Amino acid sequence: MNEEVLRLLGNHRSVRKFKSQELPDSLIEACVAAAQMAATSSNVQAYSILQVKDPAKRARLAERTGGQAQVKEAGAFFVLCAEQRRHRLLAQDQGSSYEANLETYLVGVIDASLFAQNLVIAFEGHGLGTCCIGGLRDDLHAVSELLQIPQDIFPLFGLCVGEPLDPSETKPRLATSSVLAIDRFPSDEEVRAQITEYDERMGQYYAERNLAGRNWSGGVKRKFAKATREALHGYYEGQGARLR
Ligand SMILES: Cc1cc2nc3c(=O)[nH]c(=O)nc-3n(C[C@H](O)[C@H](O)[C@H](O)COP(=O)(O)O)c2cc1C
Repeated sequence: MNEEVLRLLGNHRSVRKFKSQELPDSLIEACVAAAQMAATSSNVQAYSILQVKDPAKRARLAERTGGQAQVKEAGAFFVLCAEQRRHRLLAQDQGSSYEANLETYLVGVIDASLFAQNLVIAFEGHGLGTCCIGGLRDDLHAVSELLQIPQDIFPLFGLCVGEPLDPSETKPRLATSSVLAIDRFPSDEEVRAQITEYDERMGQYYAERNLAGRNWSGGVKRKFAKATREALHGYYEGQGARLR
């Protein structure tokens, strides 16, 4: 059994092309129920998930996430959200205050992410493919208006799920010894050596896929050279988060 779990986790790969068939509601409910058993801070369960079924909304979301066709083509599409709405409601209804701050926001983000990863594994355990969609944060004001997201709910990322169209391959990761530090974190020099080693492996991975010259550090460098999605702070605060 342990082997099976490790094999399932080790076989993860994002899937971006799906067969058109819809997922049965019963399967979705079973996977969501299993994912709800993820650990959650003090059992507060500070998340919710919105399944978007309306094809017109799915098409608009595909545009709003940078033209990602899988958002409309996958068998199912979900929006993963941190949320403080039910907590604020119950506090107010019981005459108590609800004090939002960075900690309450992080509790929601962490709870939602743990739930989401369990959900991914539940779907992948059924032979389905998944792709998280951080592109959802490209224009959260538009997404929020389209999906009528209530106050105190914080959409974080999307999730496509469905029958994979093609077999896709796993992507190599950093060496385990690069992310597992024991008793002390590595020196900068050691980290540089780890990056070089991974760049070599990723360079080979890309070269085998007609992308010679690409490596990992080039992608990371480009991603973080400029601040992106600068409107997020204002959006989440407008939804009721307190990020300071
Ligand atoms: C929070 C999150 C957001 C992501 N956003 C996107 C996205 O918008 N579009 C996409 O094609 N892949 C997206 N991905 C998938 C990553 O690119 C992918 O997980 C990473 O390259 C590793 O590849 P693998 O999942 O195939 O192993 C996202 C993954 C995560 C965890």
